[in-house]
Order: sequence, then C-alpha cells, then structure tokens
Amino acid sequence: MFIPQTFQLLLAASGVVAVTGDAHTHPRRRCAYGDACWPDAQTWSEFNATVGGRLIRTLPPASVCHVPHYNADQCAVVKESWLDSFWRTNQTGAYSAILWEAGKTGHCSIDTPVRAPCDQGIVPYYSVRAESAKDIQESVRFASEKDLLLVTKNTGHDHLGRSTGKGAFSIWTHNMKGIKWHDYFVPQGAPAGVSGVPAVTLNAGEQWFDVYQAASKRGVLVVGGSARTVGAAGGYVLGGGHSPFAHYYGLAADNVLEATIVSADGQHRVLNDFSDPDFFWAIRGGGGSAWGVITSITYRTHPVPQNLVMGFVQLNSSSNASYTRVIAESLKCLPAVTDAGYTGYSSLSEGFSAIFIRPNSTVEHFNQTFASFSNIAQLPGVSGLFAAYPSTWDAYLETVLQDPNIGTNIQDTSRLLTADVIAEKAEDLANLVLENHPAGGFNFIGKVNNDERDNTAVNEIWKHSHALLSISIDWEDNAPDWEKREKRQHAVMLSKQFTDIVGEHGGTYINEASPYEPEWERVFWGNKYDRLLSIKRRVDPTQLFICNRCVGTDFVLEP
Ligand SMILES: Cc1cc2nc3c(=O)[nH]c(=O)nc-3n(C[C@H](O)[C@H](O)[C@H](O)COP(=O)(O)OP(=O)(O)OC[C@H]3O[C@@H](n4cnc5c(N)ncnc54)[C@H](O)[C@@H]3O)c2cc1C
Ligand SMILES: *[C@@H]1O[C@H](CO)[C@@H](O)[C@H](O)[C@H]1NC(C)=O
Ligand SMILES: *[C@@H]1O[C@H](CO)[C@@H](O)[C@H](O)[C@H]1NC(C)=O
Ligand SMILES: *[C@@H]1O[C@H](CO)[C@@H](O)[C@H](O)[C@H]1NC(C)=O
Ligand SMILES: *[C@@H]1O[C@H](CO)[C@@H](O)[C@H](O)[C@H]1NC(C)=O
Ligand SMILES: *[C@@H]1O[C@H](CO)[C@@H](O)[C@H](O)[C@H]1NC(C)=O
Ligand SMILES: *[C@@H]1O[C@H](CO)[C@@H](O)[C@H](O)[C@H]1NC(C)=O
Repeated sequence: MFIPQTFQLLLAASGVVAVTGDAHTHPRRRCAYGDACWPDAQTWSEFNATVGGRLIRTLPPASVCHVPHYNADQCAVVKESWLDSFWRTNQTGAYSAILWEAGKTGHCSIDTPVRAPCDQGIVPYYSVRAESAKDIQESVRFASEKDLLLVTKNTGHDHLGRSTGKGAFSIWTHNMKGIKWHDYFVPQGAPAGVSGVPAVTLNAGEQWFDVYQAASKRGVLVVGGSARTVGAAGGYVLGGGHSPFAHYYGLAADNVLEATIVSADGQHRVLNDFSDPDFFWAIRGGGGSAWGVITSITYRTHPVPQNLVMGFVQLNSSSNASYTRVIAESLKCLPAVTDAGYTGYSSLSEGFSAIFIRPNSTVEHFNQTFASFSNIAQLPGVSGLFAAYPSTWDAYLETVLQDPNIGTNIQDTSRLLTADVIAEKAEDLANLVLENHPAGGFNFIGKVNNDERDNTAVNEIWKHSHALLSISIDWEDNAPDWEKREKRQHAVMLSKQFTDIVGEHGGTYINEASPYEPEWERVFWGNKYDRLLSIKRRVDPTQLFICNRCVGTDFVLEP
C-alpha cells in the first residue's frame, strides 16, 4: 500500500512523530529465501552473532523422518508426539494445523517413505529463538534493513496462518518465559493518584497452562482461554481473547493494563493509556502481528471464584428435521442463559451438546436457567440429558482445559450472533449447519462484559453477541490439491452465506475466523478499521509487520 507523502507531511505538521526514521514510502520488497535480495551466508552469520547464536535454520517437524535430515530416534519421537500440543508448540517449525506447515501444495509427512521429499512448505526458513527484548530488537532492525519477509511466531496456533510464511524470517517468542505478580500495579507514567491494582506481567512466550498453575498457587484468576497451550501474551490477546470468565471480567484484551513491544523502528516501548493511548488501543484487538513484537503483557487479576457450577446439556436428534429443530431452538435459548452469566462451548455434531460454566452459582440456579432446554427435549425424535454439579477451581482447570483439533487441517468460518439475528434467523442458521454437518459448533457461547469495548480495538459486534458460530472445512494431510482448492472455495462460500443470513453489519472474532474471509476488514473490525489503519500508518509506515488479513497489510492469502 502506498503511503502518500501528504500523509507524512500531515504527521510532521501535527507534531505527531512517526516512530520510524526510515525513508521508505513504498511497500517493501519482501525478500524471502531464494530471492536475489535474500542476504548471503556471511551476512546471516554476522547477524547470528548479534543474537547470541540463536539463529535457527527452521525445518518442518517431520524433516527428521526424511533424507537428508533422517534420524531414526528423532523420527520415532516425532511420530509419537505428532498430536501432542505441548510438543508441537515446542518445535520451531511446527504449527497447530498442518496446512500452515504445508501451504497449498507442499507437505513434509510422517507417513511417507524416508526418501520421499520433505517439502519446506510455508515454514519460515530462518528463526531467531528469542530470549530477550534485545534479540527481538536486533531481529526487527535486521529485517527492516534487509527488507525481509518477517513473521512472528509464538505457539503457532493461529487459525489464519498469520505465524507462518514461505521463505520467511521468523522471530520465535515461545522461549520468552516469565511471570511476575503485582499486588498494586500502576502503569508507567500514570499521573499521581492513580491507584495500583492486582496484576500479573507475562513474558511473550508464556502459555495458559503454566499461567493457570501459577495463578492457582497465588490464589488469583487471570482471564484466559479454555486451551492449555495457547499463548497467554501473544496472538490470543492481540485478537481479543475470549474466556469462560469474560461475562464478568471482559475479554482478555479488556484486562490489559500495559504491554511492552518492539516497534517497527526497533525501539522497545511501554504501551499503556498514558504513553501512547492510540497505539495501546490498537494492540488490544487490532490482531495478529501488525503492530510490532510484544515482549510482555500485564493483565489485571481477579479473585478466584468461591464456587463454580459446571453443567452439561446434550440434545440428540434422530432425523434431519429434529436436528435443525434442536439447533434452532437451542440457539434461541442462548441469549437468556448467557445474560444470566453462563459461558460455554458446544459441538453440533449429534444435535446440541454443550458444557456451561458459571462462577458464584448453584445447581439450583443452573436448573432454573436451563429449564428452557427441557422443552426441546420433549420434541419428537429428540433425546435429552442435563447435568450440573458444583465444582472447584482445581476441577475446573482439569476438566475444561483442552487443546482440541491439534494436527488437523481444520479451518473455521464464523460469525458472532446477536440477539436480533438469533430471533429472526435461527432456522436459516440451523439449515446452514445441517448442510455442513457435522462441521458446525459454537467455539464460544457467552455475553461478555463490554465496559472496555470502546477502549479497545475489538469489534463492536461483541457488545451484542451471545455466541460464536463456526463451520469448518478439513482435509486429510495427503488430500489432492484440487480437493483443497474446492474446500477453500467452499469456505469462501460459507462466508457469503453467513453474510446473507446475519447481514452486512455482522462480524466475527478475528482469532477464530476464516483465513479466506472476503470482506475481512469489515467483518473483523467493523467501524473500527479506519482508526486502526491510521494508527498502523503512523507506527509502521513502511509496513514491516504484515500478515494474512491483518490491519494495513499488503499481503492477503488467496483461497
Ligand atoms: C486448541 C486451540 C484452542 C483455542 N482456544 C481459544 C480460546 O479459548 N479463546 C480464544 O480467544 N482463542 C482460542 N484459540 C484461538 C487463539 O486465540 C489463536 O489461535 C491465537 O492466534 C493464538 O495465538 P498464539 O500467540 O498462541 O499463536 P501464534 O500462531 O504463534 O500467533 C498468532 C498471531 O499472533 C502473532 N503473535 C504471536 N506472538 C506475538 C508477539 N509476541 N508479538 C506480536 N505478535 C505476536 C503471530 O504473528 C500471529 O499473527 C484457540 C486456538 C487453538 C488452536
Ligand atoms: C548460529 O550460531 C550458532 C552458534 O555459533 C550455531 O550453532 C548455529 O548453527 C548458527 N545458526 C545458523 C543458522 O547457522
Ligand atoms: C516442551 O519444552 C519444555 C521446556 O523445555 C519441557 O519442559 C517440556 O517437557 C517440553 N514438552 C514436550 C511435550 O516436548
Ligand atoms: C464471587 O463472589 C465473591 C465473594 O462474594 C466475589 O468476591 C467475587 O467477585 C464473585 N465473582 C464473580 C465472578 O461474580
Ligand atoms: C437439578 O436438576 C436435576 C435434573 O433434573 C435434578 O436431578 C436435581 O435434583 C436438580 N437439582 C437442584 C438443586 O434443583
Ligand atoms: C447422544 O449421542 C451420543 C453419541 O452417540 C451418546 O453418547 C449420548 O449418550 C446421547 N445422549 C442422549 C441424551 O441421547
Ligand atoms: C439430511 O440432510 C443432508 C444435508 O442436507 C442431506 O444430504 C441428506 O440427504 C438428508 N437426509 C435425509 C434423510 O433427508
């Protein structure tokens, strides 16, 4: 994208200093491995010395099962660990969904013979195993100077392929561990009189499982996701971050008090409401790696709930007619149960099968709130099961935290559903789910606290949403290219069908959205996109940080 000179002049005239001194006004060349502009071996070696020798030639995880990198012992470990999300996130070149290793054509498989080709796919060519902000600063400056195709990777869980890149240079934050608790946290530069609040600072590589363990020992709650290995201070929070506790405390992004970031000019900056309110607003929901490389996030913490109720609802159907009826009627029950404080997750493969959670609740309250569902169980061809029980914090941590769909090629297409859409379009949505059976589900059910919505870049649609409905595509690792192409086209069609049903004002959660969403600016950010774009132009005028369907990107993945 071209940054007009006049815009730069306006910035200068307004006294707002662009954070880069770089004179580029055109999109960069994006030098990837194999291009003439890719640095030579000597240059890489000199760079390697500036990052303490932590430059890694990154390979797909199955490379040790093939010549020339074949190693029988290592290959055995890879085969055994293939679907283990802890192992996956430990690998420089592994991704939660295999297609973000393979790309559209290549694949390095554990199932092919030793001499079968191992394709590098879209796994970055080099990565820096960052240990400190300084490593990241060196890497950002090097990438900027050499115009490299730059990627930031944390866990590799991204659903839109935003932590991957063919021939790219990657900054890998996974090993930047560190958790620091605060009794009274005051953001840097806050005016006198701002009182401190309990908080925690997480370094960029922390994952939710470790944070929950530490929080449990400390006796506090940190608003985080339902998965164990998702990063707690990376893409999750940058995109918003939904949580079973979001009804009370908002999305993860709503709980951020401060962040530290290496910006496009290589500076290590503190972002909060006092240092650069616009930039701080943008990273809370602006998504992906469009903004720089986060080195830490400081979250407000909350008291652990005294008690917690978990409940299950299972409504099976025996025919297509009863199936769509179950989906539509269950959907209509969601506004009331989410307004009452329940959050949950649901599969739609047998009918409606969901888990619900509410802090400070009782089984009696669950029974009253979910009575509406028992009417559905009375419908012909439907069988129902309900159960609720008082739980403890520790039991919650053991039951709920899961890492589903690791090592698949699942790609979601989704929309957040408002009460109006649910009231008017439940049947249309149920039919869409049936047509795509069994690939539908609610990745999140809940009415989140929106007190901070205007202070973050998170899509306004969350103010009115009660559930995130997703329909996915998937393929076998060895699926032919034509099948993958057809399925990607199907995902594009799903986006259009969703828009037809929910309308032009609909939107979705950017971290659980289609990598091929056609109208992504509007669907991901609604009316906040323009402000995001102007902030992007100020803080990254030469577009060092790009990623698929990220703010101001000049790179958009084609289906
Ligand atoms: C099993 C599973 C469960 C999930 N559960 C939930 C859930 O409960 N709630 C929810 O809201 N979402 C959930 N998600 C979605 C999750 O929020 C996204 O996958 C998110 O992108 C993961 O971020 P990451 O940093 O772990 O992954 P990565 O793929 O490493 O990074 C994701 C994006 O963030 C960027 N990024 C990462 N770290 C940094 C950094 N330090 N600085 C700048 N940019 C960075 C990357 O470049 C990329 O664009 C889940 C995903 C999976 C696979
Ligand atoms: C970077 O330097 C370290 C230490 O010298 C070395 O082990 C590593 O292989 C180098 N990385 C690359 C990609 O050459
Ligand atoms: C991942 O790495 C951590 C830290 O090195 C290690 O403790 C853990 O056992 C590893 N897990 C797996 C499954 O490889
Ligand atoms: C639960 O109740 C406790 C004690 O009354 C209170 O401190 C806490 O804020 C409540 N939590 C929620 C999520 O309502
Ligand atoms: C809740 O409902 C279940 C199932 O109908 C019932 O067995 C249980 O006794 C009820 N519990 C309370 C406290 O109402
Ligand atoms: C619904 O179907 C699942 C899977 O077939 C089964 O395990 C479960 O018991 C059924 N539940 C009810 C209420 O019929
Ligand atoms: C049920 O719906 C699916 C998807 O629309 C369709 O393929 C199938 O034929 C239907 N089954 C019956 C028995 O109508």
